Amino acid sequence: MSDIAKLQIGENSFEFPLIKGTENEVAIDVKSLRNATNGIITIDPGFKNTGSCESAITFLDGEKGILRYRGYPIEQLAEKADFLEVSYALIFGDLPNKEQLDKFHSDIKAHSLVDDDVRKILEAFPKTAHPMGVLSSLTSALTAFNPISVNIESREDMYNAIVRILAKFPVLVGWTMRKKKGLHLNYGKKSLGYVENIMYMMFKEPNEDFQVNPVIKNALDKLLILHADHEQNCSTSTVRIVGSSHAGLFASLSAGISALWGPLHGGANQAVLEMLEAIKADGGDTKKYMAKAKDKNDPFRLMGFGHRVYKNFDPRAKIIKVAADEVLNDLGVEDPILNIARGLEQEALNDPYFVERKLYPNVDFYSGIIYRAMGIPVDMFTVMFALGRLPGWIAQWKEMRLNKEPIGRPRQIYIGENIRPFVDIDKR
Ligand code: ACO
Repeated sequence: MSDIAKLQIGENSFEFPLIKGTENEVAIDVKSLRNATNGIITIDPGFKNTGSCESAITFLDGEKGILRYRGYPIEQLAEKADFLEVSYALIFGDLPNKEQLDKFHSDIKAHSLVDDDVRKILEAFPKTAHPMGVLSSLTSALTAFNPISVNIESREDMYNAIVRILAKFPVLVGWTMRKKKGLHLNYGKKSLGYVENIMYMMFKEPNEDFQVNPVIKNALDKLLILHADHEQNCSTSTVRIVGSSHAGLFASLSAGISALWGPLHGGANQAVLEMLEAIKADGGDTKKYMAKAKDKNDPFRLMGFGHRVYKNFDPRAKIIKVAADEVLNDLGVEDPILNIARGLEQEALNDPYFVERKLYPNVDFYSGIIYRAMGIPVDMFTVMFALGRLPGWIAQWKEMRLNKEPIGRPRQIYIGENIRPFVDIDKR
């Protein structure tokens, strides 16, 4: 293949270089398009055909169902690594050796207190507040309590900001859930591993000793790993674009949390459970809801099905389906919602509408089921997603800043009124 793309506009022909990634993905480099063509731009709503950056963090091939972080296959990471190792690999480029991992963990533990005044902000929220709004606000508020700006030329500054947020974010997550459940706010235990400590902060009852259930710990580790990065999705693009204005790391993450909140993105795991509950309340007739999903005059969509990039299967869904079965067996969960979920899954996998459109269960179809079995409230599910995505957002923000990417500022094609004179209010 030639390494030049030719564009013919009327009489004029323009040439643009092709760039190739390490996995042979090809892009037409249109950086010079507007200048060369005297103002012509490309338009691509939803960015389905537009690369926003070159990135060395995550590779995914939606057609083949491949997902790799820093080159490591997701299946191997989910089976052999823990969430902290994966976070290190995403942020710093390679899996850590034992010494690097121990140092990373002890640096995180050194920052694991949150200023007590942050509690006062949390107290001001009503218990009914959506945890994603609370988490986004508290993450942004952390900037005020850690006001030192990051000099991106300084590795030390960058490292300190990273370990700070990896330490404090789980505290905010734990507090957000405890407030919701009416439990006192606690801190973690330094003697515990990173994920065990997250469980402790979320689930420790005041009148009971805390025991780590290894099956739940294993499932949580996997869920966090599977959600840890997914290249240039909506929330990650938000983190990068907010950071591109040189807003700080915590502010950029807070914006990413808001982007993740929506039901077409991270909010899907909550939407899945709400949908299953609604189907149960309506008599459990899955066929009725399948028909609604296929009816173009009905806005209903089968939540947890379909994906912007995975058009054959979601490799994360395969891994998490196994973990979901383990957790449900271990906890002996008998949940009518599960039968509805299994029914929908089977019907969708055999229904021509879903098969033709390549709509398969995505990771969030199963993650909500596990979170529910763990006793996590439904509106906390997306918070759990944010907890997993944190290292990915950090890695992408760091890459964007170190690459000195320009401020993100798309263009548009204006389709509004042409110039018209101002009309005084009494004449309108
Ligand atoms: N139920 C019913 N029909 C669907 C669904 C669904 N869940 N998803 C897509 N379709 C249909 C569309 O109506 C469209 O049909 P048409 O070609 O006849 O018009 C076709 O499939 C293609 O759908 P698009 O919306 O163009 O696909 P897109 O790639 O833009 O959207 C998305 C992907 C947003 C994930 C979509 O599949 C969806 O809304 N799914 C439900 C929400 C969900 O589970 N989101 C979680 C994503 S995973 C994550 O964020 C971690």
